[in-house]
Amino acid sequence: MNKFYITTPIYYPSGKFHIGTAYTTVLANTIKKYKQARGYDAYLLTGLDEHGQKIQDIAKEKGKTTSEYVENMAKESEALWKKMNIEYNDFIRTTQPRHEKIVEEIFDRLMEKGDIYKGEYEGWYCKPCETYFTQTQLVDGKCPDCGRSVQRMKEEAYFFNMKKYADRLIKFYEENPDFIQPESRRNELFNNFLKPGLEDLCVTRTSFDWGIKVRKDPKHVIYVWLDALTNYITALGYLSEDETLFKKYWPADLQIVGKDIIRFHGIYWPIFLMALDLPLPKKIYAHGFIMMRDGKMSKSKGNVIYPETLVDRYGLDATKYFLMREFPYGQDAIFTPEGFVERFNFDLCNDLGNLLNRTIGMINKYFDGNIPAYCVENEVDKELEDYTTNTISKIEEEMDNIHIGNAITDIWSIISRTNKYIDETSAWTLAKQGETKKLEAVMYHLVENLRKIAILIRPLMEDTSDKMFYQLGIKSEELKKWDTLKQNDLIPSGTKVINKGEPLFMRLDMEEEVEYMKQKMKG
Ligand code: MSP
Repeated sequence: MNKFYITTPIYYPSGKFHIGTAYTTVLANTIKKYKQARGYDAYLLTGLDEHGQKIQDIAKEKGKTTSEYVENMAKESEALWKKMNIEYNDFIRTTQPRHEKIVEEIFDRLMEKGDIYKGEYEGWYCKPCETYFTQTQLVDGKCPDCGRSVQRMKEEAYFFNMKKYADRLIKFYEENPDFIQPESRRNELFNNFLKPGLEDLCVTRTSFDWGIKVRKDPKHVIYVWLDALTNYITALGYLSEDETLFKKYWPADLQIVGKDIIRFHGIYWPIFLMALDLPLPKKIYAHGFIMMRDGKMSKSKGNVIYPETLVDRYGLDATKYFLMREFPYGQDAIFTPEGFVERFNFDLCNDLGNLLNRTIGMINKYFDGNIPAYCVENEVDKELEDYTTNTISKIEEEMDNIHIGNAITDIWSIISRTNKYIDETSAWTLAKQGETKKLEAVMYHLVENLRKIAILIRPLMEDTSDKMFYQLGIKSEELKKWDTLKQNDLIPSGTKVINKGEPLFMRLDMEEEVEYMKQKMKG
């Protein structure tokens, strides 16, 4: 069986996760489920990045010990992912001994190799971002990432010799044009960072102690990025007593990150791997940001939307649907309550919900609930089949290339085409004219397309898919498989749909829901 190793970033447990964090995780989970449906042995890793000054400060503010604080946050985040049906295979926390021990070991090895050396660091330090910047990187004298004030700081520190590997990485980029996706990000990294020449990277700090200590020089703490990035291999047991998972799954097939951390993943991470003589991930994909009308989500602006708010009121599938549908490949998009309600009412209630309901209603009315046998009788039957098969190929390609938004749009184009087919074939007239055979063909084709739609949405909306199969009376696991998508005559005649369709989604009132979400955002 082919393997597929997919990772999310490990999140800072610095507060409750908003829908931005959920977005990355849902995306990764959807791809995992899709790969599984395509027959892959897919392995999903997520977790928490628990070290660093910021986490230490937050715990203190809350009057907790740092360990208590992160422990609690780990429980909360695992509970959230459970609620969102995220099927990760492993949840790594950088404070776990299995990670800490190996990071210490990696550090020692890189020292022995001469890739890490001791020096002195001086620069402009942004405390919230835990990052040093050079004078030229500052924007108006402030942190280029968060815009806050920076302090001049100096410390004895260890450095990683990035320069040594720069040429190799340039060559790798040239030979593997798909390594970083989307291409615009790849070009940005290549032209703005790699080509002008890399600075050596400071990989330790002495300014805080909540982190992994350098074994032979314990006043130095291994700085978060060397600590954090290596999670993708320590979680698989790299350098541990049992390297089975590592041997099976590394290199990663897809690493998903937000655009703000693509630099770390696209430059430092591959270089660390080169230094360890390990193969590089096959693809790193940077997605855009979920923004609000008034910019970034922030508590102080009162514009933060949490996944629980949406899931509790509108259901998990609607929430995931919106997140995955609304964001164009690699770009930012704006979350609006109005947009959410519109998608819910139009796409889910009208397009999908009504298609199922009308079909079940007609099969009950004309055939006593029994799905007729496959036949092609109307001019448009074949056309519908061809349209669906072609669109499915397109969807597969889009899913393979992480164009999830486009794939969903195309699933919905099958839904629209099928709704149009109902109008074109006008079942009511066929029934009145006693055209039973033609009517049978129409009913069969409607169920067949609904079956396909249920398979196509399954990686994203499992619950809705289950409900559809249930209402259609499709029980056989075989008929729920992705590789039956291009077959048109599989449903056994006499399969019985339920007596009365139940709406998949209940229409929302725009004004009421917009108000509801706005109140929730205010906190
Ligand atoms: N701990 C580091 C990652 C280390 S990976 C070895 C980190 N953590 S984070 O919690 O700040 O961010 C985690 C992820 O959430 C990043 O990929 C980031 O891009 C993403 N997002 C944060 N806000 C976001 C939005 N508003 N929209 C979409 N994704 C966002 O960085």
